[in-house]
Amino acid sequence: MEILVHPSYEDVSRAAAREVARVLNSKPNAVLGLATGSTPLGLYQELVRMHREDGLDFSRVTTFNLDEYVGLKRSDRQSYHYFMHENLFRHLNIPQQNIHIPSGTTDNYQAFCAWYEQRIVECGGIDLQILGIGTDGHIAFNEPSSSLASRTRIKTLALQTIADNARFFDRPEDVPIYAITMGVGTILEAHKILLLATGANKARAVAAAIEGPVSSMITASALQMHQDAICLLDNAAASELQMIEYYRWVAEKRPGAPSFAPRPHFALGKHAPVSRDA
Ligand code: PGA
Repeated sequence: MEILVHPSYEDVSRAAAREVARVLNSKPNAVLGLATGSTPLGLYQELVRMHREDGLDFSRVTTFNLDEYVGLKRSDRQSYHYFMHENLFRHLNIPQQNIHIPSGTTDNYQAFCAWYEQRIVECGGIDLQILGIGTDGHIAFNEPSSSLASRTRIKTLALQTIADNARFFDRPEDVPIYAITMGVGTILEAHKILLLATGANKARAVAAAIEGPVSSMITASALQMHQDAICLLDNAAASELQMIEYYRWVAEKRPGAPSFAPRPHFALGKHAPVSRDA
């Protein structure tokens, strides 16, 4: 795992956008895994800016979102469909048919989940997966005790998550109790993963995910098993890391290290060479 610490939220957002642009420049028809929440908003704003000002092209890109609330229609302002449309898709040139978001209103969730998994495979797998992290250490809506081999399915949200997300709803009791989410196993199959975490309220979860044992109690810790995962943190989110000086040292010394293979940026398959300091 590569741990990169930046001074601020804006720096994390810009670094993440540069990583997305690098992938698109190497593979214009890349498959992106996208996240919702407050954390990726700065990244999305920067991608929109790069599209407008630098001509970053999304016309061949395919996207898969991590999750959606069960019971919310696409038009509902709190749905992740609405969030993605407002904050990203309506500003970019991704063809409508290339956008995938789990359905919160299907009448057959089991069939939908199986189709979603199959669709990811048909599109060649996810080249770059963007992730946030919950204060309970979740990735997507894989709450504590989720199987680390889990696939797309329905999850019951943790009380902590419901409390954290209540800020987006008029009343706490409006927060849905169930969500449809990619599994940890689904996420781990992405060729490259970028986890973004900012703010002091994420520091404990970040430390547990990076330095704690791999455990279904902190599903983000499963990224320790991935060969090309990068954690982009601001100082506040990194503040409880024991080995912070080492991570800074690694980042500083990386340019001088003997390079034995360029870092794989996309679709090199499951057996891609392991990158330095992975
Ligand atoms: P946030 O959510 O970006 O709104 O903090 C992250 C998450 O719950 O995964």
